[in-house]
Amino acid sequence: MIVTFDLNGESVSTRVVLATSLLSMLRDELGLPGSKNACEEGECGSCSVILDGELVCSCLVMAADVEGSVVTTVEGVADEAGLHPVQQAILDAGGVQCGFCTPGIVVAAKDLFDRVDSPTADDIKEALAGNICRCTGYGAILRGLESL
Ligand code: FES
Ligand code: FES
Repeated sequence: MIVTFDLNGESVSTRVVLATSLLSMLRDELGLPGSKNACEEGECGSCSVILDGELVCSCLVMAADVEGSVVTTVEGVADEAGLHPVQQAILDAGGVQCGFCTPGIVVAAKDLFDRVDSPTADDIKEALAGNICRCTGYGAILRGLESL
């Protein structure tokens, strides 16, 4: 089937087979490898994207279900002006080690800062509760985001 939707501000159409996940469609059909596949079970948050204004695990969404939707992936977070403030803050704080979790954390943080003007430390922790990082211990990531 053909799926047509808004991806990072551009309309895209692509052919997918039934039961393909949004994550697979992004990575394998649309050439966007930023969303990572660490568990494919909705447990790690590495595949996080914003779908019609909601933070979701793209491994749990069927590609066919995004017909007509608006999807933002990590590739759509920065703009011509440069990195998004959450990206810069995490980078500046040294919150990236292997980087596998980073795209999901960036998308989750962008979603939070889009919704909440001045999130508290607890807001940030809650927003990132679904994102597993095996390297950093979260301290640098949280310090970076709390600095915004
Ligand atoms: S790959 Fe989707 S939550 Fe882990
Ligand atoms: S930086 Fe390696 S999993 Fe987070």
